[in-house]
Amino acid sequence: MSTKAQLQELIQTELRGIKFIVVSNREPYIHNWKDGRIQCSQPASGLASAIDPILRASGGVWVAHGSGSADVEAADASGRVAVPPENPSYTLRRVWLDKKLEREYYYGLANEGLWPLCHIAFNRPVFRPQDWESYRTANALFADAVLEEAGDGPAVVFIQDYHFGLLPRMLKDRNPKLIVAQFWHIPWPNRETFRAFPWKEELLDGLLGNDLLGFHLRYHCTNFLDTIDRSIEGLVNTEHFDVTRKGRVTVVRPFPISIDFDEHVQDATSSAIEEEVERWRQRLRMRQSGVELLGIGIDRIDYTKGIPNRLLGLDLFLEQHPEYHGRVQFVQIGVPSRIQIGQYQALNDELDRLVEKINLKWATGNWTPIVFFKEYFDQHQLIALHKLAQFCVVTSLHDGMNLVAKEYVASRADGDGALILSRFTGAAREFPDALLVNPFGIGEIADAITSAIEMNPEERRKRMERMRRAVKDNNVYHWAAKILSALLKFELPAPDTIGEFDPEH
Ligand code: F6P
Repeated sequence: MSTKAQLQELIQTELRGIKFIVVSNREPYIHNWKDGRIQCSQPASGLASAIDPILRASGGVWVAHGSGSADVEAADASGRVAVPPENPSYTLRRVWLDKKLEREYYYGLANEGLWPLCHIAFNRPVFRPQDWESYRTANALFADAVLEEAGDGPAVVFIQDYHFGLLPRMLKDRNPKLIVAQFWHIPWPNRETFRAFPWKEELLDGLLGNDLLGFHLRYHCTNFLDTIDRSIEGLVNTEHFDVTRKGRVTVVRPFPISIDFDEHVQDATSSAIEEEVERWRQRLRMRQSGVELLGIGIDRIDYTKGIPNRLLGLDLFLEQHPEYHGRVQFVQIGVPSRIQIGQYQALNDELDRLVEKINLKWATGNWTPIVFFKEYFDQHQLIALHKLAQFCVVTSLHDGMNLVAKEYVASRADGDGALILSRFTGAAREFPDALLVNPFGIGEIADAITSAIEMNPEERRKRMERMRRAVKDNNVYHWAAKILSALLKFELPAPDTIGEFDPEH
């Protein structure tokens, strides 16, 4: 386990004199105009909330797309702004993309192409040549910004995610002295699936510009190596988990991401949290409705999250258990996301219809079974809701990790609460004590809801205790320290210490 202080020490001793540059599409702080004033907020992004504490600890530069309506005004002429606003500890360097570029590179190639391709959630990917052109252009614009920030000195560049498949090669070609690492936050599919990608040689060559390429799971690493083996020239070493291409080596490793466990515990046990819990009780009118048991689901509204199946599972549970009518309520928080994309609009409409249908079917008197909030809540509000909920449901059809599951567990400092978790999430590997379900199986979801409610409290506590231990031991600082140590010393963990590939998963 590493703490924030240990990570800080590692950075101060090992990174001394070396610039640390993080790159992501989504920025960690966004400035928007509201009622004639500039307001700064943190976007709803697992990635941004995982990396922000690391940058706060390390200092350095975060290069990201400036997408807020007041981002230009809040930054200097080079797009730089010191963040976090209340206690500046690193520089956010914004890259400007025009609307066409954003539409084609981010919504198009990244989110209509690579996202469904890598998740294999039965949503057909769309590959438009002009989107690929814009993906290239956007990657090149980010390369310019990173190279400017790196200057002539030694620098470590840590790239996030599938928006930047071409960036590593672009950086290495222009400055071979840079150490470049990338973490791919979503799954990497099997080679049969990946072969549908029309520009696979160029993308794979781009990724092999990295010195280190990280995935959540060993399974994704294996898929990647297998894809390389079948798609482009390069020497794949399945024992060492690396690829040699053009005389250079890219090391491929699993690093399961996590959260700031201590921060969650601190907030969950603060005196301020009780007021927030009370605000939830009032918002949900729990006293008036007589609800005794609360279940929650918290997601970006994304088809990979399996929200309709979750609601159908709840519907079946209500059908099978009339004794819980009036006593159990399910709160679904859905943060609108990527709404310009047709499949996301369709999902939003489907959820509205489904919630209405289920509520109409079962509601009585003051009780409605589902309360659906289509809005963003901050971390403090979510921790309060976690505390109030007897069970949390995560039913992703496929998810690289899923940090909501870890956040729920971390918030339950009281040791209570049950987690229903899709087997097809990275988190399921770390939580054998969750109630694991196949998210396509509505019956399994209904049964798991019953088990979560009826489980003997002793058993529930034991499971929660073990899950809490897992998050405490592998917190986000531990994740970052492992990646940094691997990069700086090139002492990479041997692949055989990582856990066996489970073909069932
Ligand atoms: O899960 C992949 C991911 O890119 C996360 O890293 C990120 O938090 C999430 O999707 C949100 O995506 P976007 O930035 O497109 O809103």
